[in-house]
Amino acid sequence: MIPDYLVFDTSEEMWHYMGKMWKEISAKAIAEKGHFSAALSGGKTPTGFYQYLSGKYLQWKKTHLFLVDERFVPWDSPESNHRMLHENLLNRIQIPQENIHPIETGQSSPDISAKKYEEELRRFFRLNEGGLPEFDLILLGIGEDGHTASLFSGTTALKETKRLVVPARPGAALMDRISLTLSVINNAWNVVFLVSGHRKRGVMKKIREGRDTTLPASMVNPERGKLLFLMDREAAG
Ligand code: 6PG
Repeated sequence: MIPDYLVFDTSEEMWHYMGKMWKEISAKAIAEKGHFSAALSGGKTPTGFYQYLSGKYLQWKKTHLFLVDERFVPWDSPESNHRMLHENLLNRIQIPQENIHPIETGQSSPDISAKKYEEELRRFFRLNEGGLPEFDLILLGIGEDGHTASLFSGTTALKETKRLVVPARPGAALMDRISLTLSVINNAWNVVFLVSGHRKRGVMKKIREGRDTTLPASMVNPERGKLLFLMDREAAG
């Protein structure tokens, strides 16, 4: 799938566009199957969008929210993506508790935590052995080093082909994480990267020029779904 790149003058314009897409994709999914499933990125970039989204009238009762990745820390830690999602979106909307699918981090290891989340995906998407979830939408961020979700260059998590969710150890300096795998991301119907700020300019240049196909973000290539990069002017350069 050849990606589309869209550039916005401000982050607010980017959120507005993403909000419109969310509305369209969710309406279509709900009309076709009765519910809409989205896996959401952690990190700082999407927080403004989540707040924006919380002010919109959307079909939350038919929306199921998952996380793309999580840091292996308690949910009340400032590093927790679940906490970030609560503060910026979940606490502000009327969504049934059973529609929220967090990655549990109270397990004894990131591996057990990843296995539990995989079970949750298998249950929700009613998967047989070898089946892959079909998310209607996956929102991703990108690191300056080209990582996405918690898939970092040179790690075994990036090469995983059988599991749906894996423990990810980005390196000694960073905390353990849990991440959806590339196979899951590439099986979604819509994958959208939200990218903002001048610090992302270098990596976006590399991705757009296709110079480094080993960058995790460059390996996102949905088989049947759409792939879109939304960037503010600072990130686009
Ligand atoms: C996370 C992520 C990660 C993130 C990028 C960009 O939990 O950290 O899902 O992939 O999207 O690191 O992070 P920022 O948006 O904070 O720059």
